[in-house]
Amino acid sequence: EKVPLKLDINGKKYRLQVEPRTTLLDLLREQLHLTGTKKGCDYGQCGACTVHVDGQRVNSCLTLAVMQDGRKVTTIEGLAEGDKLHPMQEAFIKHDGFQCGYCTPGQIMSAVACIREGHANSEGEIREYMSGNICRCGAYPNIVAAIQEVKN
Ligand code: FES
Repeated sequence: EKVPLKLDINGKKYRLQVEPRTTLLDLLREQLHLTGTKKGCDYGQCGACTVHVDGQRVNSCLTLAVMQDGRKVTTIEGLAEGDKLHPMQEAFIKHDGFQCGYCTPGQIMSAVACIREGHANSEGEIREYMSGNICRCGAYPNIVAAIQEVKN
């Protein structure tokens, strides 16, 4: 039995019907085809699925879509303004903050939240905040450099 769900996603209003057990991640990817948000582990261990809900960082694989009724969701697709990349996206490019790119949307969403929440005051603080976002290519130093540049 599907239930109604209202969401604002990247500034667009949606009225949806969803299965109560659908995660926010599966809603984004499967139902809305917003595939920038990635599924790595699907159990809260990798951070590839990171989005913002009402401005807070959330692992979208760990929350049911119906729990977000009426909230504002931002995904990686909503970060740029038209053709103008978000400064964090620019900084990841400049500092080579990725290799394969699979973890990058989640890394960038966390990186933006890191600064917004005031956890980018030192390399150690950044590494601690970003520790839930795993990069198997090991781009960590470059990711930290990108965050530091945007912070300064
Ligand atoms: Fe959500 Fe890995 S897919 S944390």
